[in-house]
Amino acid sequence: MSSNSYFKHHVFFCLNQREAPRESCANHAAQEAFKHCKSAIKHAEMGGPGGVRISQAGCLDRCAGGPVMVVYPEAVWYTYVDNKDIDEIMQSHLKNGQVVERLRLGDDVGH
Ligand code: FES
Repeated sequence: MSSNSYFKHHVFFCLNQREAPRESCANHAAQEAFKHCKSAIKHAEMGGPGGVRISQAGCLDRCAGGPVMVVYPEAVWYTYVDNKDIDEIMQSHLKNGQVVERLRLGDDVGH
């Protein structure tokens, strides 16, 4: 394992809550998705050095596509609807290295 890849994948979930009426990821069940992903990774024993790390983040400045998450080091951005989407990202991308194209955030989605 090289020193610049302590984790195989490091995933950041935006959990930001902005004041109404501004939209934010927290309005789209981001906290539940984050918790689900964290516990699923733990349950599958995919965490730890050389594995997958799930971290919470503040606003990632792509709120228009919320809820958003990003996987590094690939810098692949996703949006999701429910825990089934999270499970698919986990199985396909985080476990098998296959990007889930249907959940990718468009390059033009900004704040
Ligand atoms: S509130 Fe989630 S990206 Fe801004």
